[in-house]
Amino acid sequence: MLLYIASAVCAYLIAGINPAIEFSKRVYHRDIRSCGSGNPGFTNFKRTFGNKWAWWVLLLDLSKAAIVTAVFAWLFGLYLDSYQFGAAYTGFFALLGHAYPVWYKFKGGKGFLVYMSVIWFIDWRAGLVALGIMLVLLAITRYMSLSTVTAMLSCPITLAVRNAPASVILLCTVSVLYIAFRHKENFKRLIKGAESKFSMTTSKSA
Ligand code: G3P
Repeated sequence: MLLYIASAVCAYLIAGINPAIEFSKRVYHRDIRSCGSGNPGFTNFKRTFGNKWAWWVLLLDLSKAAIVTAVFAWLFGLYLDSYQFGAAYTGFFALLGHAYPVWYKFKGGKGFLVYMSVIWFIDWRAGLVALGIMLVLLAITRYMSLSTVTAMLSCPITLAVRNAPASVILLCTVSVLYIAFRHKENFKRLIKGAESKFSMTTSKSA
């Protein structure tokens, strides 16, 4: 029981620390949540402020969830013989922490980068499939939102194909459906043809 509580609390608090919000406030004296799409994440940060600190946002958003998930998945494996469930469970609370951070009045991000790092610990094959889908779709469409949501929705499908335990598939499904739900404004813009396109080379989206 202690492990469940420690995992949920640590994942929620650690993943709640948001580098996009911190850098926007400390470096640019603005709040990223009042800029562009309003999402405190890599894409909006890069679109608003350019490349300089955006890659740190990417790296830190990936790392925060990866570290806490790796530690607690290992502990779940060690003490409860359930490494994979530990990763899905910890990842779920990391997603909650990123989306509803106590540090920033519960106004956080959509959670793609957080879950993109978590999924590798649940099953690296699901991570590989999701990353592949994301990169191919991004290269073809240049729509980050479409690419990330499609990649996320592939995760529970890959887990089901891999015969993961039902509890793991359920936690992953709830997590990725939440991420898709948080992209509803992006989908409205996509339908209207008003969604920004992503560019790797330039500092601003087209
Ligand atoms: O995960 C975030 C990305 O898919 C979209 O970000 O800023 O265009 O809403 P944004």
